[in-house]
Amino acid sequence: MCGIIGYIGKREACPILIEGLGKLEYRGYDSAGVAVMNSGKTDVRKCMGKLRALEDAIRNDIPRGSLGIGHTRWATHGGPSDANSHPHTDCAGNITVVHNGIIENYMELKEALTAEGHTFVSETDTEVAAHLIEKFYDGNISEAVCRAAKMLQGSFALVVICNGEPDRIVAARRYSPLVVGLGKGENFLSSDVGSFLSYTRDAVYIDDDTAVTVTADSYSVTDFDGNPIRKEVHKIEWDASMAERGGYEHFMLKEIHEQPRALRETMRGRLSPDSGNVELPGLNLSDEYIKSVDRIRMIACGTAYHASMAAKYAIESLCKIHVDIDFASELRYREPLIDERTLAVVISQSGETLDTIVGLREAKENGAKVVSITNVVGSMAAREADGVLYTYAGPEIAVASTKAYTTQLMVLYMLALYIARIRGTVAPEDAKKYCEELWDLPEKAEIILNDYKAVREAANRYYCFNGFLYMARGINLASALEGALKIKEISYMHAEGYAAGEMKHGPIAMIDPTFATIAMCVKSKTYDKMLSNIREVKARAGEVIAIATNGDELIESYADKVIYIPETLEVFSPVLVAIPLQLMAYQVAKNRGPAIDQPRNLAKTVTVE
Ligand code: M6R
Repeated sequence: MCGIIGYIGKREACPILIEGLGKLEYRGYDSAGVAVMNSGKTDVRKCMGKLRALEDAIRNDIPRGSLGIGHTRWATHGGPSDANSHPHTDCAGNITVVHNGIIENYMELKEALTAEGHTFVSETDTEVAAHLIEKFYDGNISEAVCRAAKMLQGSFALVVICNGEPDRIVAARRYSPLVVGLGKGENFLSSDVGSFLSYTRDAVYIDDDTAVTVTADSYSVTDFDGNPIRKEVHKIEWDASMAERGGYEHFMLKEIHEQPRALRETMRGRLSPDSGNVELPGLNLSDEYIKSVDRIRMIACGTAYHASMAAKYAIESLCKIHVDIDFASELRYREPLIDERTLAVVISQSGETLDTIVGLREAKENGAKVVSITNVVGSMAAREADGVLYTYAGPEIAVASTKAYTTQLMVLYMLALYIARIRGTVAPEDAKKYCEELWDLPEKAEIILNDYKAVREAANRYYCFNGFLYMARGINLASALEGALKIKEISYMHAEGYAAGEMKHGPIAMIDPTFATIAMCVKSKTYDKMLSNIREVKARAGEVIAIATNGDELIESYADKVIYIPETLEVFSPVLVAIPLQLMAYQVAKNRGPAIDQPRNLAKTVTVE
């Protein structure tokens, strides 16, 4: 995820671009850049690091001109560096581009363009767009952008300027956000209205597969064939700080709602429901090696550890291979059995958690090959591993992890299916069924997010209770632990995740009318056992909230409150179960009052032991 911006008008563009990029930095901050045009010449300034580094670099030599574009980057293709920073240009420096998204067919396009004589100076997917537009440019930049956009696969919001047409900015979109801000004698383009709200509240949202040409006094929207499209102008009611959060009160809530998109981004280009195939180009492990592995060891902390718990169930069942899971903080102080036949899977949203990095090194020293699953391109976990699988969740700002967790699960499921295919432990027709089911998860996540009145009602009823017990069996034990962690960290309430079958060995003593139990009771092979566990809690005057599968009427006679989610295979259900648990934690914390995005005593990335 990156932030893009464009300005055309009568004022100096650069200060406006820098101000707007500051509002977009939440979308990524690996590098920043601007391009400002003056008398048909474009001055590009960019550098690695936060926006502050760019500001320092241009402070005494600000590029002048009243037309410009800017970018703040969250690296996906090519690590953070000056060369990979946006804007990118074509061979002649006539066409300048900023981009948010991932161009999936960039390698194939790059090869073809190189063969035609184009020279590339970065490792990014974006640079392909600049050269493709150059190839099609024939005196009309709007047409060239549309022709190029038609050839791109993946997601993009592109903002483009051309020295030959110094009175306009052209932009095109597919899947990545793009909005036009309409001022008086000046116009803006951006990923997010927050970046121009101090100038105008009139906005036009650009749809997928459309392009827009903006001058200082006009804008026109077309499809990629040039057919005009009429658009409505929206009046933005938010204040500027709300706008950075896309209108959500907290980043956590925004990130919860981003999960359908994040899951789609994470699957795109890797999983094919039609063929039942999974491709994992970053994995970097030969089939021979995968066949030779005799155990997998997962290393992670916190929420990422819960993802590894769910993965143990999934991988052992789909791949018939032994999986050990370790808290990274524990691994280094014992003598774990790791050798050349161990595949270590390191999971870390930030890729910088010290305990996890130490665990990664320990695994390598013992001869294991290491694959990192991380959200941050170029992070330590990515750099030090033999292979990397990125979760394309985009920056996670709230301390409580939400979209990172569900995208980690998604990557782990794809890894399980990939290994299962190579080891021949899943029949091709079953693999197809699993892929189809995974493919449908984002839509099912949307269904949950479109209406969660039942979660709000439960939170409003139980937020004053003395504590929560999350109980589950099977793979959703991971969900129980994750649900309890979420509520602990943002509402400071006592909460425990427990295996339902273990309740009778101790925790059931805690049950009384002031203690609420959240039971993971989706359709599963242990459904009946869960019903019995709910009965046991009810018999001790405990209140029960059940997370259940749509259409399950029986559960109503067992639980005090039911939160329904769409049906999926039990093995994939933790992705959907996580969402009401995140929303529940959020709503309870909101009712109780703590600082949701930055809870006390915690840090987003823990780089100490
Ligand atoms: O960046 P990492 O995934 O390595 O972080 C691990 C934990 O610190 C993290 O998941 C933490 O538990 C979250 N705040 C939980 O919401």
